[in-house]
Amino acid sequence: MKQEHILIIGAGGQIGSVLTDTLRELYGDDRVVASDLHPLEGQSGPTEVLNALEGQALEAVVKKWRINQIYHLAAILSATGEKDPMRAWNVNMTSLFNVLEIARQRGLGKVYFPSSIAVFGREAAPVDTPQYEVLIPETVYGISKVAGENWANYYFRRYGVDVRSLRYPGIIGYQSMPGGGTTDYAVDIYHYAIQKKPFECFLRADTRLPMLYMPDAIRGTVELMEAPANSLSVRTSYNLAGMSFTPEEVASSIRKLMPNFKITYKPDFRQAIADSWPAAIDDSAARYDWHWHPEYDLDAMTKDMLRHLAVKYHLGELA
Ligand code: NAD
Ligand code: SER
Repeated sequence: MKQEHILIIGAGGQIGSVLTDTLRELYGDDRVVASDLHPLEGQSGPTEVLNALEGQALEAVVKKWRINQIYHLAAILSATGEKDPMRAWNVNMTSLFNVLEIARQRGLGKVYFPSSIAVFGREAAPVDTPQYEVLIPETVYGISKVAGENWANYYFRRYGVDVRSLRYPGIIGYQSMPGGGTTDYAVDIYHYAIQKKPFECFLRADTRLPMLYMPDAIRGTVELMEAPANSLSVRTSYNLAGMSFTPEEVASSIRKLMPNFKITYKPDFRQAIADSWPAAIDDSAARYDWHWHPEYDLDAMTKDMLRHLAVKYHLGELA
């Protein structure tokens, strides 16, 4: 066991809930403090109710548990952010500044801050979007992630804070539900399919977006955090890719196992957000620097998602 004292902020969310379990397996239950705005149930290790907008409360938790690493996952995501842009900006930036400042003041070992494909806008190359590309996002979420990446880089270069970051694509997992993003359909669709319900998709059939299966996302996060500092050439945020698909392609993948699955399309305001994002991004910097490689393609993910959801919904073995 490694002697880290880790704080996860936003541990109750889609990614945080899975990451908490993985980090506890790696470092020990008692070494990983899971925190969120609301009490967390069913935990195998310590928890805190923590609003990351409150700097003094964050400092108290860091002192109490002798924290030396923070995974800062709390954020307002793309679709929810567009409903109240000022709130999204405040939550995403104030919480990040609180984390970066506590890390600087107390000399914390490492900080993890996830960025997103939302940093890209229509001016960026839509396919194989390079690591270093023009960043003109069209959502407040994307603007906050571009700003966050640059502040991460600033704190690293100016103060030596070891902040590490990944530009996650849409993350898909069976363990948890997504929290207000534009890629959420790609999780919801599996829940409808396994329950034999027709699915109405809020994106057009041909909307191609970068996606990543949860096990790959969690493994990539841990691998980045464990990589030697001198191997990391990117101190804003690494492009991270897994697969790219359209809603129609997920539906076809599901139909290989559930031939009667039905999908209809009713695009809403999230279509414009998706249209401003790339279809596939180039993650060669991550592959070169810390040997990133995804394991799941669409069909492998579909099989695994449906198998686990069948258990979750008490449907027995998937035929
Ligand atoms: P989520 O919305 O599921 O979870 C976020 C969690 O943060 C929630 O549990 C929420 O209660 C908590 N939170 C919100 N405000 C808080 C505050 N002020 N103080 C403490 N906690 C607060 O999000 P997620 O999908 O798990 O995403 C985690 C991170 O990964 C975010 O930074 C997000 O931008 C990034 N990301 C996610 C995806 C994805 O597809 N899920 C893709 C790209 C980037
Ligand atoms: N999955 C996220 C969203 O749709 C991308 O950051 O907001």
